[in-house]
Amino acid sequence: MKNSLPRTTESLTHQCRDECSEFPRREVPQSHGNESVVRGLPVSLRVNGEPYELHIPPWRTLLEVLRENLCLTGTKRSCQEGQCGACTVLLDGKPINSCLYLAVEAQGKEILTIEGLSRSAGGLHPVQKSFVEKGAIQCGFCTPGLVLATVALLDQNPNPSEDEVRKAVVGHLCRCTGYVQIVEAILGAAGEMAAEGGR
Ligand code: FES
Ligand code: FES
Repeated sequence: MKNSLPRTTESLTHQCRDECSEFPRREVPQSHGNESVVRGLPVSLRVNGEPYELHIPPWRTLLEVLRENLCLTGTKRSCQEGQCGACTVLLDGKPINSCLYLAVEAQGKEILTIEGLSRSAGGLHPVQKSFVEKGAIQCGFCTPGLVLATVALLDQNPNPSEDEVRKAVVGHLCRCTGYVQIVEAILGAAGEMAAEGGR
């Protein structure tokens, strides 16, 4: 059963140490006498419909907090410069590069990661199914970001043209597929979701 109590920095830190081989990837800066700065600001986040009460240093990006504090490693870390789209999550339904977004600024917004998308769909979301069926996944590193960008696109424009699809994913780099299957998967998902009456 889902626990509706907010989870805290301390409990999540232990969980991540136990579960996540990447934790911790980044050194905590030395305090230089100001512990509150290092421990971080109290921040309430809502991620995948669940509340979290955290202490977050003001310089931590949303990507770092998702991966290293919440152990949501479906959001990928690659360029960390806003160039590749691998770190894309939805903030109030809009795609953002979480590597460029400070976690403290996400307070009061709904954050959706790839883990939350599958959970809310009760299995694979139609966009994920379409990516699998059309062979739009090889190594899969770009896939979570592309899937979430597609969900946002189809939410705004359920029947996009090929041109509109290509524009929507222009900030997403894929080293494997050559993009043809990705475009086919997005158009396929749009058709499937329209046939199902949206989702
Ligand atoms: S890791 Fe964020 S855009 Fe590349
Ligand atoms: S499937 Fe490998 S980077 Fe896109």
